[in-house]
Amino acid sequence: MKSFVLILAALLAGPAIASSGHYPLEKAPVDLANTVSLQRGAATFGSYCSGCHSLGYMRYSRLTDIGLTEAQIKQTLLPAGAKLGDTMGIPMRPEDSKAWFGVRPPDLSVEARSRGADWIYTYLRTFYRDDTRPTGWNNLVYEKVGMPHVLFTLQGEYALNHESAEGHGAGALIKVKDGQLSPAEYDALIGDLTNYLAWVSEPAQASRVRMGFFVIGFLLIMLVVAYALKKEYWRDIH
Ligand code: HEC
Repeated sequence: MKSFVLILAALLAGPAIASSGHYPLEKAPVDLANTVSLQRGAATFGSYCSGCHSLGYMRYSRLTDIGLTEAQIKQTLLPAGAKLGDTMGIPMRPEDSKAWFGVRPPDLSVEARSRGADWIYTYLRTFYRDDTRPTGWNNLVYEKVGMPHVLFTLQGEYALNHESAEGHGAGALIKVKDGQLSPAEYDALIGDLTNYLAWVSEPAQASRVRMGFFVIGFLLIMLVVAYALKKEYWRDIH
């Protein structure tokens, strides 16, 4: 029994530790019903991420689900030459990206499901300066990452705090240069971006949850009806 519990604990803890690289993940403010947040996330992704990362399972036209009109999508998010029904690809050729970054920037369609929203939220907030890396950047949750910190003008620049127990928890990084946003504003921006990636990874989730409530509600009503019916049928026998 004891070993069974131990194995169970190891199984449950294993993936969490493996995916976070020991750095504690922070809770992402995911709220798929908040369309304003999702729209802000889509705009940020369009301005800062879509040059390198595709969202290959998502079509531009589907953005109407988060409250954008087709005219708004065309004006703000659709790249020149693309059509509303197209999937969200990247302008860069795969061979080039491989040559520039050593790795191909992965498609992020299901990133929020493979890594988890908390991982993305923490990852985008824990880049730090590291001159030993070819990009000049490293990351607390993704050590030796091939991605440069593309939002450093907004967040400012951080360096590893060698005083703190290396790379663990709050205080692991210290600010060395201010950005255009305050820490709270930057967190909000990343929160919206993460929310958007969570929606992209499962755009039907909100309607699936609604459907779930409906189905459970229906079953509960059926239970009452079936019970009343059973009583009625057995009345003469008991
Ligand atoms: C200049 C190109 C470039 C831009 C712009 C860029 N990335 Fe990346 N990104 C990369 C590369 C390259 C990797 C792969 C890093 C690796 O595996 O070492 C990566 C990796 C990632 C990963 C981790 C993928 C994994 O391995 O699970 C996430 C999440 C991510 N990027 C999100 C973003 C977001 C969000 C933005 C916009 C704010 C963005 N990226 C902008 C190049 C870019």
